[in-house]
Amino acid sequence: MVSKDKLDLSSPDLVNENFEKLAALFPNCVTESAEGKAIDFDLLKQELSHAVVEGNKERYRLEWPGKREAIVTANLPTTKTLRPVREDSVDFDNTENLYIEGDNLEVLKLLQESYLGKIKMIYIDPPYNTGRDFVYKDNFKIESDKELIDSGQVDEYNQRLVANPDTAGRYHSDWLTMMFPRLKLARNLLRKDGVLFISIGQDEVSNLVQLVDNVFGEVNRISVVGRLAKSGGNKGKFFSPNIEYVIAVARNYDDASGFRDEMDPELIKKVYTKTQKDGDRKGEKYRAMGLYQSSLDPMRGCVNQRYFVEAPDGTLVIPPGNIFPSEKKDGSKIAPQTQKDGVWRWTYPKYLEEKEKGNVEFAETNKGVLVDSDGNPSKWNVNTKIWLKDRQDAGQLPNDLITKYENRHSAKELKAIDIPFEFAKPTGLISYLAKICNSESGDIILDFFSGSATTAHSILNLNSEDGEKRKFIMVQIPEILEGSEAYNAGFKEICTLGKERIRRAAKKIKEETNADIDYGFRVYRLDSSNMQDVYYKPQDYDQGNLDLFADNVKSDRTADDLLAQVMLDWGLPLSLKIEQVEVSGKKVFKVAENSLYACFDSGIDEDFAKAIAKDEPLRIVFKDSGFKNDTAKTNVKQLLKQLSPETEMKVI
Ligand SMILES: C[S@@+](CC[C@H](N)C(=O)[O-])C[C@H]1O[C@@H](n2cnc3c(N)ncnc32)[C@H](O)[C@@H]1O
Repeated sequence: MVSKDKLDLSSPDLVNENFEKLAALFPNCVTESAEGKAIDFDLLKQELSHAVVEGNKERYRLEWPGKREAIVTANLPTTKTLRPVREDSVDFDNTENLYIEGDNLEVLKLLQESYLGKIKMIYIDPPYNTGRDFVYKDNFKIESDKELIDSGQVDEYNQRLVANPDTAGRYHSDWLTMMFPRLKLARNLLRKDGVLFISIGQDEVSNLVQLVDNVFGEVNRISVVGRLAKSGGNKGKFFSPNIEYVIAVARNYDDASGFRDEMDPELIKKVYTKTQKDGDRKGEKYRAMGLYQSSLDPMRGCVNQRYFVEAPDGTLVIPPGNIFPSEKKDGSKIAPQTQKDGVWRWTYPKYLEEKEKGNVEFAETNKGVLVDSDGNPSKWNVNTKIWLKDRQDAGQLPNDLITKYENRHSAKELKAIDIPFEFAKPTGLISYLAKICNSESGDIILDFFSGSATTAHSILNLNSEDGEKRKFIMVQIPEILEGSEAYNAGFKEICTLGKERIRRAAKKIKEETNADIDYGFRVYRLDSSNMQDVYYKPQDYDQGNLDLFADNVKSDRTADDLLAQVMLDWGLPLSLKIEQVEVSGKKVFKVAENSLYACFDSGIDEDFAKAIAKDEPLRIVFKDSGFKNDTAKTNVKQLLKQLSPETEMKVI
């Protein structure tokens, strides 16, 4: 072995280094071969191809019909966009929370640039594939814009949300094909220290663990946690199915900060019963733990730990046993000879060190087990102090069985805000996960199977409790709720219900706590691109036709729509503050101060360029057809270059 101080003169193992690099980029391509860990080159080829690549060699990996299509699906670009829906939003201009309506696959693709490596925690609760679920069938070929325009979004979604009964031939495969690209895209969004939690039931837990290992790399799996979803029940043949699971996985296991839970208040009350009377820690609570413990094996690694300690009255104290140190003074020791010769938990030097710090107490007792230097019962107990504050600061490792948050709790929560929905998770569960993964102000929490928006509700609750300013992003397909209580109550599709839940929950939390938190949310809806088809495929149109599209933006799209698309294309988070101002009589959007200026009005000319250059925006965008004429377009570009050289100009 090369010592730490010596230069390692051997050259690095480049093959291993290259392997690690590929494994980090494509964890799903790591497999096992007869020679050990290997790269699955067929799968790697698939990762680098837009078409399905054939190949079938035996190897250790999760395989299902449709896996290759799923890889292609994940890598296909999208031509869709997100359109703001101001009327459904709350405090649109100032809030940093988002509610996005649409198929999560497309939405995750659209968020790839703006939220790459920015999400602290993702919680998802996908369909469990119980045999009664609807599973979304992705269209794995690139759709033509014509199709997109023709299909109303809700219709399109509901045509593709199809029942997946367990009698279907591709029951598990279809579910895996749906999950795989979404997990892959989600992984890209996680921060280096980010974590993903997935709720799942019995039906797919084993497949999902393998899938998660495949997408994230097995080394990044944190745990498969059990959760008591309900108690009791007597249906079925073998066990009453009361346990569900939460799979926890890190973007990078080593970078994720360790989970910490709060200590159980009941335990604190029961165990930390003593109060320090004097000294630096006066008034602090502690728990007394005997320095002697009969369960210690004196013959194994404790041979130095049988010694006298001196009590406040000058007598010596030692654990019970048959042999005693010959010298009768504090610290003199003797090696234990049999299991009956008790030992202290600490060595003598450690005892002295802790005593000096005030962490040892002698307590008088009439039921003591310790003895004096003659082997007679001592009136003293020797205790070490475990300080409550130290334990609280260190935090408690969470248990990998969660018993506190049963599904029935959600029924009560939803009733309190009059939202009829049966399948919600309890908010306590998601707040708990957000808490143990140490999320804090500024962190973004994403749920892209948001259902009734329980995650949003949980984050509002948690922020109101601990004052942190976490932000949320919900993604949900507008699934029709026909035949449900919600439908009869006027919530025709689930997004209407989710948004209303957030509004009502926010109102209630504000009334009850008046906490200074962000109660709003910006709504965006997935839609076809804002641009005419000609924008993407000019080669398909002859010159004569091109004139028809002098304005390449679709006629029903607003400046607000264009701004959202520009923000996504430029990789800016959709939650940035947006202001609208007037410059030289034109409407200008200012995003995050001077991060981005956008003006989609017509008649852009030199005067406007001079006026706007004064603010030195970092980025500026116009409509291609928005310039007064071609000369104005050239001049505006030149003027900005001279007057505000840092400004990057684009046109759409
Ligand atoms: C089990 S529920 C989530 C329930 C949620 N945790 C709650 O507490 O209300 C799963 C949700 O994912 C939604 N979903 C399924 N496929 C989707 C897709 N492709 N895009 C977005 N949402 C989808 C379903 O509509 C359903 O509401």
